[in-house]
Amino acid sequence: MGVNKRVAAIEPNAIRAFDDQTSGVTDILKLTLGEPDFSVPQHVKQAAIDSINSDDSHYAPSKGSVALRKAIRHFMIDRYDLSYDAESEIIVTLGATEGIYDTLTAFVNDGDKVLLPAPNFSMYDPTIALAGGEVVYVDTSKSDFLLTPAQLQAAIDEYGDKLTTVLLNYPSNPTGITYTAEQLAALAEILQGTDITVIADEIYAELTYDAPHYSIAKFLPSQTVILNGVSKSHAMTGYRIGFIVGPKELLAPVATLHQFTVTSASNPAMAAAAEALGSAQGKLDSKGMREAYRERRDYLVPALRQLGFEIPQPTGAFYVFAKLPANVNQDDYEFG
Ligand SMILES: Cc1ncc(COP(=O)(O)O)c(C=O)c1O
Repeated sequence: MGVNKRVAAIEPNAIRAFDDQTSGVTDILKLTLGEPDFSVPQHVKQAAIDSINSDDSHYAPSKGSVALRKAIRHFMIDRYDLSYDAESEIIVTLGATEGIYDTLTAFVNDGDKVLLPAPNFSMYDPTIALAGGEVVYVDTSKSDFLLTPAQLQAAIDEYGDKLTTVLLNYPSNPTGITYTAEQLAALAEILQGTDITVIADEIYAELTYDAPHYSIAKFLPSQTVILNGVSKSHAMTGYRIGFIVGPKELLAPVATLHQFTVTSASNPAMAAAAEALGSAQGKLDSKGMREAYRERRDYLVPALRQLGFEIPQPTGAFYVFAKLPANVNQDDYEFG
């Protein structure tokens, strides 16, 4: 049987496996997949229903419906002061997951090095390998889980032109840590003028608690593509709507790849996402969820610390990166 060597070399997703293993257990709170526990607001559901009822059942433009791309454009200006052209600088994807795949596959050549601050979201490593790239991990555990300018410079010095891509995720899964504008400016200063492309996974951008979200694209517009979507901001993980924004030179190859892989996202899901991102109520929905997560963080983190867990203060996303206390079983599968 012929199996592609790169595909054969990757392991099935461990979080999915653990989720399958625990899904049959009743009366537990599952903390496996990054899954919001809110229901999709009625006006957003209604937009999907209206799309179905109005026979919105034909192929959409590959980059996404015009209404959704306009809503994304408006959303990026309103929230992050970043302006992208709806025709050439925005692509609607099947979740941020497709964005990760499309950008890495479109940008990375065989043997290229991709810098990844660790610990990192588990989907990046296999996708980099599938694209033929090699991961350069930078351990951030001694620098408050942030990539430092010195670490970035050291990687550039070591790998030279082979280092073509930097993959940043902030707020971060799994640490909940995000960067300030000043910290991003310092990284951007080093990247400015190089041929390095930055993929900024900002899927948790709407969930920041202590300061407004800031994107590295503000400092490095021509070198940055941003991945985002409605999965986390609007609790719409199952709708599978994400998006990629960036300069048209970087997005053109991504758009071609997207044409040949998924064609386009589904119309009812895009109609719902356009309502979520484009309406005043959608902004309020997201704000309400953020406040609920903040309240939970403010309860849970001190309570876990009291029990002996060491935890970096999460400034975004909805994760608590808790180090097991020394007096309990240190095997993370057996703990509990
Ligand atoms: C950092 C990060 N990026 C991307 C994703 C995937 O997002 P989506 O469900 O929109 O594909 C997740 C989901 O957990 C994530 O944590």
